[in-house]
Amino acid sequence: MKTAIVYHSSHHGNTKKLLDAMAQEGEVTLLAAASNLDVDLAGYELIGFASGTYASRLHEDVLRCAERNLPSGKPVFVVYTYGAWRPKLSNLEQIVRSKGGMLLGVYGCPGFCTFGPLKLIGGIAKGRPNAQDTAAAAAFFKEVRSRVEGKQPRG
Ligand SMILES: Cc1cc2nc3c(=O)[nH]c(=O)nc-3n(C[C@H](O)[C@H](O)[C@H](O)COP(=O)(O)O)c2cc1C
Repeated sequence: MKTAIVYHSSHHGNTKKLLDAMAQEGEVTLLAAASNLDVDLAGYELIGFASGTYASRLHEDVLRCAERNLPSGKPVFVVYTYGAWRPKLSNLEQIVRSKGGMLLGVYGCPGFCTFGPLKLIGGIAKGRPNAQDTAAAAAFFKEVRSRVEGKQPRG
């Protein structure tokens, strides 16, 4: 089953580590988000949106990409990392809802952060995501995918 994940992972590549573990499950296309990205997601049966947390939200490029490119009626999942506080997902939820999609699941874990003065103390969430986090991300993805597969008509 074809899955596309639109992502932004620029601070320490934390979110990308989770996505790479998911991609090993096969048939996953990772698409780097840009605010003006035009991508045809119609051929994917499952769509993920993923980023670190920036100012308490998913990255703006991911939100813009979702707004611009999410086809109607798609199953969606979200993956994020955060330094200290989980992001608010209301913007993305609103986009998915407006396009008649279904938000099937969310996976998040801490990600190493050296933003601003945190650099002076060596950062927070050191060593995250760790091997347990990436394994849990892959298990989350498999579980969401199996739910979508279960809903598809058998050929
Ligand atoms: C500019 C900036 C803003 C951030 N804002 C938040 C925030 O509001 N809340 C939070 O918990 N972490 C925040 N962080 C920490 C990141 O969300 C965290 O390190 C994340 O794992 C980065 O993911 P990435 O390496 O995939 O980009 C911020 C980091 C940066 C660089």
